[in-house]
Amino acid sequence: MALPGYAFFKGRIVPYSEARVGVLTHGLNYGTGVFSGIRGYWNPDEKELYVFRPEDHYRRFLESARMLGMELPWNARQLSGAAAELIRAEDHREDCYLRSLAFYGDETVGVRLHDLTPEVSIVAIPYGRYIEKEEGAHATISSWRRVDDNAIPARGKIVGAYVNSALAKSEAMRAGFDDAIVLTQGGHISEGSAANFMLVRDGVVITPPITDNILEGITRRTVMELLDKEMGVKVLERSIDRSEIYVADEAFFVGTGVQIVAITRVDHRPIGNGRIGPIGTALRDLYFRVVRGRHPAYQAWCSGVYGGAAAREKTAMRPAEPERTAAAR
Ligand SMILES: Cc1ncc(COP(=O)(O)O)c(C=O)c1O
Repeated sequence: MALPGYAFFKGRIVPYSEARVGVLTHGLNYGTGVFSGIRGYWNPDEKELYVFRPEDHYRRFLESARMLGMELPWNARQLSGAAAELIRAEDHREDCYLRSLAFYGDETVGVRLHDLTPEVSIVAIPYGRYIEKEEGAHATISSWRRVDDNAIPARGKIVGAYVNSALAKSEAMRAGFDDAIVLTQGGHISEGSAANFMLVRDGVVITPPITDNILEGITRRTVMELLDKEMGVKVLERSIDRSEIYVADEAFFVGTGVQIVAITRVDHRPIGNGRIGPIGTALRDLYFRVVRGRHPAYQAWCSGVYGGAAAREKTAMRPAEPERTAAAR
């Protein structure tokens, strides 16, 4: 992967080579950080790069930070503005991905969440598919269980918790699958390694509730709204048994990275007829029109970087930076 040219780091945009931390950094040693992944979609007709629901992503980022007791001095709008400015600095005119991180930056030894100072970084890189076989992925039920809310809250995007995702993903890929479906300790389906899960039975979409240790996904919320309002498909949030997958008509992973992936086989069993189904096909078509800013009803979810509102929102973060950095040191 080519490294980015710039990073938002310590409140301003700097060359990526200057965004560095020491090996004693708390977040690196203990996983005491939170992150977010946001996609930007290039619309060649409008010559505009649309960032998808940045403020919703940054609201969850701030909520995740709060779970670790972090008080960040910026709001979702300011972070979205900084992300847009970063993309303009990189001059990305292709699909890209924003990785934002808030981590305890102190170089110190001692496991805790108090008396520490958070730092924030953002980078923007060109990005394509996360799972190659978006139209027909083969998943496996992981031998790993999803972290529980009372262990590490799954509803937050907490850095340390992603060891759980990495264990599941690598186990699946090394066994020849595209991704893993991870169960709760109680044996219900929770989600994928880095995506929410949905299945279709008799025309109804069913997805695990947020109390089954899932990340509160922005794509999940987006898809639920599109299914209901645009496709007239009923969506049920309820716990799903493992064996229900084997009798499902269709199944998907949904998430910023994976986008909408049709799961067409699970542990060598075909889902439905083993090919992407009608709801999956229509949903993918609709989703990609929406995220690329081609659906007028959902334009508000798409934040234009070059000509749209975000461009006028030159980050209001720089004035705050010296004060914050001084206090932090
Ligand atoms: C564990 C996990 N679940 C679900 C998702 C989907 O969340 P979102 O749609 O907000 O990207 C992600 C991230 O992409 C994730 O890492």
